[in-house]
Amino acid sequence: MPADPKPHAVVLEARSLVKRFGAVTAVDGISVEIRAGEVTAILGPSGSGKSTLLRCLNFLEVPDSGEVIFQGQRVRARDRDLDALRSRVGMVFQQFNLFPHLRVWENVALGPRVILGLPAAAARERALGFLARVGLSDKADSHPLQLSGGQQQRAAIARALAMEPVALLFDEPTSALDPELTGEVLSVMRALAAEGMTMAVVTHEVAFARAVSHQVVFMDAGRVVLRGTPAEVIDSPANERAARFFSRPGA
Ligand SMILES: Nc1ncnc2c1ncn2[C@@H]1O[C@H](COP(=O)(O)OP(=O)(O)OP(=O)(O)O)[C@@H](O)[C@H]1O
Ligand SMILES: [Mg+2]
Repeated sequence: MPADPKPHAVVLEARSLVKRFGAVTAVDGISVEIRAGEVTAILGPSGSGKSTLLRCLNFLEVPDSGEVIFQGQRVRARDRDLDALRSRVGMVFQQFNLFPHLRVWENVALGPRVILGLPAAAARERALGFLARVGLSDKADSHPLQLSGGQQQRAAIARALAMEPVALLFDEPTSALDPELTGEVLSVMRALAAEGMTMAVVTHEVAFARAVSHQVVFMDAGRVVLRGTPAEVIDSPANERAARFFSRPGA
């Protein structure tokens, strides 16, 4: 057996991605590789382009230039490519984005039923299974607004998982939550990481990034200014902006 395992396959990749909003270049020529079975943490100051990068990776924003490569294929802004990308790459948002008029299990069953074409009973069974995985079996019949923020976010994670995605993108999944609710969401994400789920996570949770991620990408002003292992980027950053960021109180 080789001593050095092969690096994991790249699942999702940005190449020289650029996204502008008027005069603002939110993403300014970024290349990143999201590798199978790894957690990529994306950190950086507010306005550095983290959300825009994540949204470009899922084509929620169409990049102005550069490429998104998914499983070796360049994604183009046409329906066939986007449907394939979005049904295989899940996204979890800061604000959960659950449908308030649907029960929790119905939120989770919707994608499998409508997009994957599962029969109703199978979609419900799948939903209940993923709700159990995030510790929400007892809330399946509730409506989202009857849940705490942490429970709503866990339901949103179950909804993403129910599509059996090849990768999950998280945009600050805990920053709308109180500290005690943050913990329950991070522990679900830790369990997913331990199971080998491929994830890219925009987060301000430095301790989580240090403990769970394989790769840390530090952004400033639309660029990646530092990348490496958590030890390299968080604990001994060879970049002044990153050093300042990680030495701030609470980091
Ligand atoms: N839809 C939009 N229209 C105009 N400008 C935008 C839009 N989305 C983002 N921007 C701008 O692009 C830049 C990067 O924004 P982005 O939301 O990607 O940053 P961020 O790193 O996610 O910040 P935060 O940590 O506050 O979430 C900012 O200057 C922002 O104002
Ligand atoms: Mg953001």
